[in-house]
Amino acid sequence: MDPFASPHNLDRELQSLLAEASTNLCDWFAESGSKGPIPDPFDLPEVPPEKNGVSNSVLLKELQILMNASFRPSHPGALAHLDPPPLSASIVGEMICAGLNNNLLAEELSPCLSSLERKLCKWFCEKLGLGNLSGGVAASGGSLSNLMALVMARNIAGLGNDPSAVFFASDDCHVSLSKAVKVMGLKEESLQKVPTDEKGKIKISCLVSTFKKIKSEGKKCFAVVATAGTTVRGAIDPLSEIAQFCQKENIWLHVDGAIGGIYCLSTITSDLLEGLGSADSITVNPQKLLGIAKTSSLLLVANKSHLSSTFSTGLPYAEPISGNDLHGGELGIQGTRSAESLKLWIGLRQLGEDGIEKIILDSIKRRCYLESIIDASKFKVISGPLHLLAFTPINYNSSEATEWSIKTRNSLLSCKFMLSRPIYRDRYYLKAVMGNPNTKFEDLDELANLINNSIID
Ligand SMILES: Cc1ncc(COP(=O)(O)O)c(C=O)c1O
Repeated sequence: MDPFASPHNLDRELQSLLAEASTNLCDWFAESGSKGPIPDPFDLPEVPPEKNGVSNSVLLKELQILMNASFRPSHPGALAHLDPPPLSASIVGEMICAGLNNNLLAEELSPCLSSLERKLCKWFCEKLGLGNLSGGVAASGGSLSNLMALVMARNIAGLGNDPSAVFFASDDCHVSLSKAVKVMGLKEESLQKVPTDEKGKIKISCLVSTFKKIKSEGKKCFAVVATAGTTVRGAIDPLSEIAQFCQKENIWLHVDGAIGGIYCLSTITSDLLEGLGSADSITVNPQKLLGIAKTSSLLLVANKSHLSSTFSTGLPYAEPISGNDLHGGELGIQGTRSAESLKLWIGLRQLGEDGIEKIILDSIKRRCYLESIIDASKFKVISGPLHLLAFTPINYNSSEATEWSIKTRNSLLSCKFMLSRPIYRDRYYLKAVMGNPNTKFEDLDELANLINNSIID
């Protein structure tokens, strides 16, 4: 058995391995509905390699053990996180990407796929309203896109050597910003958190006053991060007002649109993100709602030369590219990168504009429906305009809410509904994300019934 595909003949062994693995994967999908989102207790297959490699049939058996024990995002009750099932074309894209094994580090290792990435980023930039000089780069996840944006903003502000430099974001911003503080060698107080209002949006008046205070202390500021789609409730910060503020103060605006950015792809929902086009940089994660297989995140910038002026080091072991473009490995933190844009491109081609819009609108409809059938006399429901909501009992104190959240999450799991249990403003909530296209209104009726009965009158 040759473990590499023949470069000369049709490799029948690879062909049948792929065919069998594909059939097993299709079977796995087919039985997902009758299982729960998370598996029963499981065993792992053998982990270390044996002295002699195992046969394809053993490999397939071992793979099956892993598959049986895996989380099933396509189960209709999988509603805990921003992890929808993958589009079928995106699965194929991932497989072909592995087969091609091109490297987005350098043009010579991925001539066509590098060009595809640039074009796709440009298309997103246009959809999100960034201007003529815009461009972007794919990154493995939103945390990395946010980190690169902050490194770039700090570099452009000339504050690369100032550990006291400050940036601003709301209390509800994603934890990846705190991680960026650690990675960038900044002080903990470099991330100045600004309070949010009752809808979970940053309070502009507080942003202005915090900014003034920080400046009056002599500290240098390099960015404001607005969140378009917060992690717990999907709130969108007031982007236009923040953009005006940033322009006035001449400070970089990064929008963390990991969740909300793709709502710009539908003309029906793009108004929700008014002002987004004034950003200097935007994170968008098609993996979070559109069903692009993980990971799929883009960092888009209004002026793409800021990416190269921040990250370019030269790539002395690769041939220079003709024209103005730089190697992908010079536009961000990563060196070797897989061609993640392939599965994004093919997924978007499969959906078409109408299919993209349907995913977006259906997810909002499901959120609105669930919100309308959760008993408002028992629960405080928090949401925004997107597809996330969270709820907590009205009449419980914080420790009663903690106990309720643990008990209710477990009892929902036993009925094959998986919700998550975030802490929000010092109190536990249960959170439901309506990005799973397999969830029907009847499932939501059943879910709401279980939720409403988790508190006995
Ligand atoms: C608002 C927001 N930004 C960024 C991220 C980080 O994305 P990733 O998990 O792809 O690193 C998340 C993840 O949930 C998020 O909710």
